[in-house]
Amino acid sequence: MTWSARQYSLFEQQRTRPVRDLVAAIPTATAHLAVDLGCGPGNSTEVLAERFPDARVTGIDSSEDMLAEARRRLPALTFELADIAAWNPAAAVDVILANASLQWLPDHASLYPRLVGKLKAGGTLAVQTPDNLEEPAHRLARQVAAQGPWADRIGAIRHPERHTGDFYFQLLSPCCRAVDVWRTTYLHPLANHAAVVEWFKGSALRPYLDPLEPAQRDAFLAAYLEGIVAAYPALDDGRVLLPFPRLFVVATR
Ligand SMILES: C[S@@+](CC[C@H](N)C(=O)[O-])C[C@H]1O[C@@H](n2cnc3c(N)ncnc32)[C@H](O)[C@@H]1O
Repeated sequence: MTWSARQYSLFEQQRTRPVRDLVAAIPTATAHLAVDLGCGPGNSTEVLAERFPDARVTGIDSSEDMLAEARRRLPALTFELADIAAWNPAAAVDVILANASLQWLPDHASLYPRLVGKLKAGGTLAVQTPDNLEEPAHRLARQVAAQGPWADRIGAIRHPERHTGDFYFQLLSPCCRAVDVWRTTYLHPLANHAAVVEWFKGSALRPYLDPLEPAQRDAFLAAYLEGIVAAYPALDDGRVLLPFPRLFVVATR
């Protein structure tokens, strides 16, 4: 799947708010080694580096486009091209941040404990994943994908894996001294309905759009916009409040 740093960063302020809330909840006091898994354009890495100014901070991502933007933004930090599924640090680390990235990976039942296993005692894994698969924006994407002329190519695409908070609490409690889980729904004020489409073009729609030719992509987006207009009422001033539920897991080894 291809990622565009430019498209993703259109809503950077709103996308970075959960990172701030997540990093603020990390109980580990000091860190020598901190890693940002799925660092994207470096927005989450920046928050991590601000919180742990003495740490050696590394950002990991599988997208060259995202890494180029992260390196431009934070030239003093280290960024590496790697798959989170295969990430295996040479030494145990103090903090692992994964903001809006692990939802793209399968097999959380083994992934999360494996990541905890890369922490020093007292170190923390801090994860935020969107919890919005049943929101209208996602249901519409599945519906448009399944009903258009592109159905044979993208109609069966599903996002890899999502679980409720109690799944992660029970999964990580046996290998952690503390597990903190919570869910928040952000209400993002966006300029109009077209902005809602732009938001998801930068993330959840990518698996559907990537396989399509440009003309089909435009047709998909037009059908999707029509559904978004019907599903999200505009405010009096024309803006749209986009509800976005997110799940947070902060696990300390
Ligand atoms: C939604 S962005 C999150 C960016 C940033 N962490 C933030 O807080 O806004 C997800 C990022 O995860 C990366 N990613 C997805 N799957 C990955 C994998 N298996 N290995 C490494 N990076 C991955 C994508 O390239 C993308 O940059």
